[in-house]
Amino acid sequence: MISRRRLLAASVALPLAASVAGCVRHPSAPAVGTTRPLPIPPLTTGQVGADGVRRFELTARTGTTEMLPGKATPTWGYNGSVLGPALRARRGERVAFTITNNLPEATTVHWHGMRVPARCDGGPHQTIEAGGTWSPEWTVDQPAATLWYHPHPHGSTEKHVYRGLSGFFLIDDEHADGLDLPRRYGVDDIPLVIQDRRFAADGRLDETDSSTYGLLGDTIITNGISDAHLSVRTERVRLRILNGSSSRLFNLARSDDRPFDLIATDGGFLEKPLSLSRMQLSPGERAEIVLELRAGQTLTLRSLPIEPRAGLSDPAEFGFDDTFDILTLRAAPQLTPSPALPGALATITPLGAAATTRSFELQWYMINGQRMDMNRIDLTVQAGATEVWEVRNADNWPHNFHIHDVRFQVIGIDGLPPPQALSGWKDTVYTEPGRTYTLAMRFSGHTDPTYPYMYHCHLLHHEDQGMMGQFLVLGPGQQPAPMVMSGNDSGHGH
Ligand code: C2O
Ligand code: CU
Ligand code: CU
Repeated sequence: MISRRRLLAASVALPLAASVAGCVRHPSAPAVGTTRPLPIPPLTTGQVGADGVRRFELTARTGTTEMLPGKATPTWGYNGSVLGPALRARRGERVAFTITNNLPEATTVHWHGMRVPARCDGGPHQTIEAGGTWSPEWTVDQPAATLWYHPHPHGSTEKHVYRGLSGFFLIDDEHADGLDLPRRYGVDDIPLVIQDRRFAADGRLDETDSSTYGLLGDTIITNGISDAHLSVRTERVRLRILNGSSSRLFNLARSDDRPFDLIATDGGFLEKPLSLSRMQLSPGERAEIVLELRAGQTLTLRSLPIEPRAGLSDPAEFGFDDTFDILTLRAAPQLTPSPALPGALATITPLGAAATTRSFELQWYMINGQRMDMNRIDLTVQAGATEVWEVRNADNWPHNFHIHDVRFQVIGIDGLPPPQALSGWKDTVYTEPGRTYTLAMRFSGHTDPTYPYMYHCHLLHHEDQGMMGQFLVLGPGQQPAPMVMSGNDSGHGH
């Protein structure tokens, strides 16, 4: 143990120190050159067959994308050269997918935030070989939310996402239909994936792993391109924001420093709109915000330095000091009126007494002192059970914590109530060093003795390094019967 720690400590110090200078964009740097219109991912509602099943087709492929003006960047995408279509389905519907892998290597497609049977989860056990296909199918059974899909091949997730594979998955339901919110896709309801990238001079993505912390870019891309603007024609615009970065946190703010309204987090609507002037998002988290603009106004959505930094070894190494312009919003000279935001959005009922409490310590690419082993089931839970998970960041690094299949409530941070921005349903939460996050969740009725779900740090390099564990959801009397994988498949090399 000690020698491994020493080894890790040594490998941390040097490359991190070397990476500082390159990753800071000067806060006062003026916007250079011209902006391009924000690309809006095509919206796909699939095809509903006579059997009532909504069918979607996705093909993961290679291509080139003009991420930077005038440069051709080799990228990976679903049904296109980068990112993927925004998929849309309703609660209660049966959805089915045909996913083809036209990449030169194996991948998976995981439905982040979705309640799904474990064999449809698209985690590291549902590999799609190069040239292969995969056809998961399930019934959507959760409230309206902004989810996303992305690759999850064990040990290569960071690389696959970095090259461009990510897409939105929007869930609708009757309750959301009844809320008077901006809802015209691409007009006043805008999906926005924010990612940091680093480019070589020829426009290729720089994949040199500049730190053991993970890829940290110096250029922001939104929906796949740098320096984008959005033309706004309504008084209010709803942004469904996803932090799709490998390791970078964002602290979002308006350039005029006025507040905006947070209406939803990872798993659905807050009880009521929350007025904020800053919104922090760690990798994998989503936030739906509504911005109000004045006619003719030009506004920039920015990311400011990350504020909570107690206990971090060196915040600058993790990009915490950086400032970026994310997206320019340009309001038309005349704006269509938007209705005022509803006063109430949802009812969030506390989950109540838990059958089981478990503890998780995050440190050194490990959870509870162990790295991921595809052949080790770390825990089993009972279908339908309510549990409390106490997650502590025992490290001096930033980490976050994501759980597959469930939405959770953050019921305490070091025993105190969480800030209001964490009062809604979550599936990923940032964990500050030294703090304990108490999460309450109810597991689904999808049981499977063979295929596990994952929980992990969503800083993708950490996840790839094995900061991940596996759990089975079992029915009454059901015994675990995990698949045993052979040799090289069982874990990942160091
Ligand atoms: Cu966003 Cu295990 O995933
Ligand atoms: Cu997930
Ligand atoms: Cu981590």
